[in-house]
Amino acid sequence: MKLTSRSVSRAALVSTVLTAVTLSAAALVATSANAATTLGASAAQSDRYFGTAVAAFKLSDSTYVGILNREFTMVTPENEMKIDATEPTQGQFSFGNADRIVNHARSQGMRVRGHTLAWHSQQPSWMQGMEGSALRSAILNHVTQVATYYKGKIYAWDVVNEAFEDGSSGARRNSNLQRTGNDWIEAAFRAARAADPGAKLCYNDYNTDDWTHAKTQAVYRMVQDFKSRGVPIDCVGFQSHFNPQSPVPSNYQTTLQNFANLGVDVQITELDIEGSGTTQASNYERVTKACLAVTRCNGITVWGIRDSDSWRASGTPLLFDGSGNKKPAYTAVLDALNSVGPTSTTTTTTTTTTTTTTTSSDPVPGGCTATTSVNQWNGGFVVTVRVTAGSTAIRSWTVTLALPSGTTVTGVWNVQRSGNQWSNVSYNGNVAAGQYTEFGFQGTGTAGTLSPTCTAA
Ligand code: G3I
Repeated sequence: MKLTSRSVSRAALVSTVLTAVTLSAAALVATSANAATTLGASAAQSDRYFGTAVAAFKLSDSTYVGILNREFTMVTPENEMKIDATEPTQGQFSFGNADRIVNHARSQGMRVRGHTLAWHSQQPSWMQGMEGSALRSAILNHVTQVATYYKGKIYAWDVVNEAFEDGSSGARRNSNLQRTGNDWIEAAFRAARAADPGAKLCYNDYNTDDWTHAKTQAVYRMVQDFKSRGVPIDCVGFQSHFNPQSPVPSNYQTTLQNFANLGVDVQITELDIEGSGTTQASNYERVTKACLAVTRCNGITVWGIRDSDSWRASGTPLLFDGSGNKKPAYTAVLDALNSVGPTSTTTTTTTTTTTTTTTSSDPVPGGCTATTSVNQWNGGFVVTVRVTAGSTAIRSWTVTLALPSGTTVTGVWNVQRSGNQWSNVSYNGNVAAGQYTEFGFQGTGTAGTLSPTCTAA
């Protein structure tokens, strides 16, 4: 066949078009080959994690475990680390089911969020009936024992869960823990820090997603106060359970950012969004993008894997359907995570804030008194020591306190010890006139009647 100039140019045109189509296809292949194909891998591109709540009894379900191992890089025990599960009888700890989850996670290279050390709900019956100093000692002992048992294995602890009222009051929830004294939350954080110094320590709550809500503001003020006084808090968890009555607020990213600006990390800890199809997908996309836009948002945890695993199964709030198929919401989250891209990484920095105490303007030093409350059980005890300043403020204190022979101290919090001398640490030496601070310790043996004395400067 003879090629005319017209047919040549047409052939060249076809060839050019074909080449262009081929190049464009190659470019598309390259793009999708670079995009991460799992939630965990796509989140890792910006140094974030993607987690899920896990139930120990589902670890024998191969579909469940298959998705878990493929998609997630962080695990939260859904119920197995709660107080009723870990200390069903006072002083007798039970870690079997929590261990199964922790061991599975670690064997797969996943990290673990510890949920939760102190909560008004899911308390064992022995704790539900407790009040006052006995409860204060019991909860601090619980925090210490559980955090010590898992020391070094937990990425972040939900030290205290859901301690504020819903509604417009902005008040603390009236629980048996709250009735032990308003400082119960900071006491729990200090005990957790002493027990597991390498873990991030979080306050975790729900209905704190809308910046304008009284509960959000109240939690914000508490975190602000803790940071200003050196109470060891590293992060705030936003449970983020959403449904049509409680939708993703328009100011969600603002809330995350404002908390982060206090100098804490923020984490989305129990995400689920009731709904289906594109509406649900776009809500998930918004939440994911809000986290990605906040440098200190470390990661997202969804509260279950398949819709059928959810505590709100009828609302189909998760990323996989009951058969384990990916839903549109899954794709929306994956695409949002991939939109950050492997080259545009966000560096998450954990800063340690050192509170420097200025003594020059302190009032004239005065005296102090010390009292003890002892929670004794067969073979062990927790002692809480209250140091009360006299008529003038004090800058430092030392309690002299001897323990009977046969006792062994196994853990201390909010204090440095040298034999019978128990002295303040950096953050609790300053006590205003007439005010008090508390430290504690746990041990084996019988504490008996204690006779502390206090000196101050
Ligand atoms: O395991 C028992 C089973 O033996 C028994 O037959 C059955 C009868 O009710 O109960 C089973 O235990 C249930 C447990 O979930 C395990 O499925 C409890 O009754 C039930 O109360 C418990 O619910 C959990 C709930 O916390 C309790 O407050 C949900 O699974 C869990 O998803 C949910 O998680 C909470 C977070 O910890 C905190 N934020 C809110 C979130 C949702 O409520």
